[in-house]
Amino acid sequence: MPNRFTITLLLIAFIGFTNLSCQTNSPLSNYNEYCATCHGDDMNGGNSASLIDGVWAYGSDVESINKNIKDGIELDGMPAFGDVLSQKEINELTQMFIKGEQPQFLQNLSPSEKVETFDYDVSIVEITDDLEEPWGIAFLDASTILVTEKPGPVRIIENGKLREKPIAGTPDVFYHGQGGMLDVSVDPEFAQNQWIYLAYSHEINGKGMTKIIRGKIDNYNWINEELLFEAPSEFYVDTRHHFGSRIVFDSKGHLYFSIGDRGKRNHAQDLTKPNGKVHRIFKDGKIPNDNPFLNVENAIPSIYSYGNRNPQGLAVDPETDLLWATEHGQKGGDELNIIRSGNNYGWDVITYGVNYDGTESTEKRKMPGMEVPILFWRPSIAVCGLDFYYGNLFDKWNGHLLVGALKFEEVRILDIEDERVIHQEILIKDKGRVRDVAVSPDGSIYVVLNSPDKIIRLTPDN
Ligand code: HEC
Repeated sequence: MPNRFTITLLLIAFIGFTNLSCQTNSPLSNYNEYCATCHGDDMNGGNSASLIDGVWAYGSDVESINKNIKDGIELDGMPAFGDVLSQKEINELTQMFIKGEQPQFLQNLSPSEKVETFDYDVSIVEITDDLEEPWGIAFLDASTILVTEKPGPVRIIENGKLREKPIAGTPDVFYHGQGGMLDVSVDPEFAQNQWIYLAYSHEINGKGMTKIIRGKIDNYNWINEELLFEAPSEFYVDTRHHFGSRIVFDSKGHLYFSIGDRGKRNHAQDLTKPNGKVHRIFKDGKIPNDNPFLNVENAIPSIYSYGNRNPQGLAVDPETDLLWATEHGQKGGDELNIIRSGNNYGWDVITYGVNYDGTESTEKRKMPGMEVPILFWRPSIAVCGLDFYYGNLFDKWNGHLLVGALKFEEVRILDIEDERVIHQEILIKDKGRVRDVAVSPDGSIYVVLNSPDKIIRLTPDN
């Protein structure tokens, strides 16, 4: 005879079971909960492909689409949802994509040319919409701007005009998933030395890793290329996401760059692996002799900090020389950190995020010896692009931090006091996915947008 205890247990199990099997959510709410982060609020793509354009790279029949949702596509960073979505829910999602049912209310708002913020009325001017997946932006001077396009070339904007001719001779890039030509940076002493720095996804036998080079531009030609960082080929991995990457400089001649965990989450804690780290080298690629892990056996000598999931925003505050970084967390775990020598930023042991399917990836938020973020964003805004504002046009914003967001399509401005964020304001929203944000030498703010691919410029509206 079952006693009362086992009956209770059976009852609990039964309720749990009925809950799991009977609760089906609408395809739209499942989409918003599980898919929008990567495939875009409007389903038209973001970090990953559009699901309503009728283009199916992995099979266009119902079965293939169902299978891709259920089992995921591991090499490309598409998670499996078979454990959290029922077959019925998966079928309904597939049907929705095949019919191209884009939710109307998420269509882009028509771009207004002026926005009001607490401190300024800001006017927005479009510089160009003629770019393919623009990614990084850097200024040679106020009227000469370099922009990377993710498929490869680097482009020049001169006096507000995009030059048709790309820079010839930059290296081929591993243009897959999140990989491609990523960041561009200009040497702080450019006037004297003309060096330009590039971060890109590099391929060896179908596997990829982030690589850092520098070179010069002479009449639309990339010349004098020098290798600054390339990981040994055994560290290249076959995933196509989480490459980072940004390049910034401090005032002491150091160059910092980031590499994401490459989708191999446990590599971030492993000092013998280049991924999941912020690195520090000199501008010529040499390793500073006070880098933190030079005495750790087999550690990669350029590592400056570790436990970083996918940092796509780096900025040095010229007043303090401190390095700040934003990194994509999982769902609900985007972070803002101050990166200090030798620190462990916790991924994938501690995090405020959860797995994309909603399950806990770890319950741990803190651990001795690991840094908690200065700020985290829940829900994730998909942080990308970071710069400190210093300039003449927006005086009240001097020392504030500009943060771009892909998913939320925002530029936020953070007011920072004593290494704490005391206020955040959304400056622009819904103009497109913000890939990079950068302050021009003339004090205006440039924003690099994806879908639609555009560069816009913000100035005060006097
Ligand atoms: C962590 C990011 C991420 C999340 C979350 C995610 N996907 Fe994906 N998905 C990808 C990537 C990356 C690909 C590979 C193709 C690409 O780069 O876009 C992909 C591919 C797909 C494909 C195949 C597309 C094709 O062209 O054949 C389907 C279908 C798909 N996802 C559906 C979904 C659905 C439905 C959800 C939510 C239940 C979801 N994805 C959530 C990243 C994601």
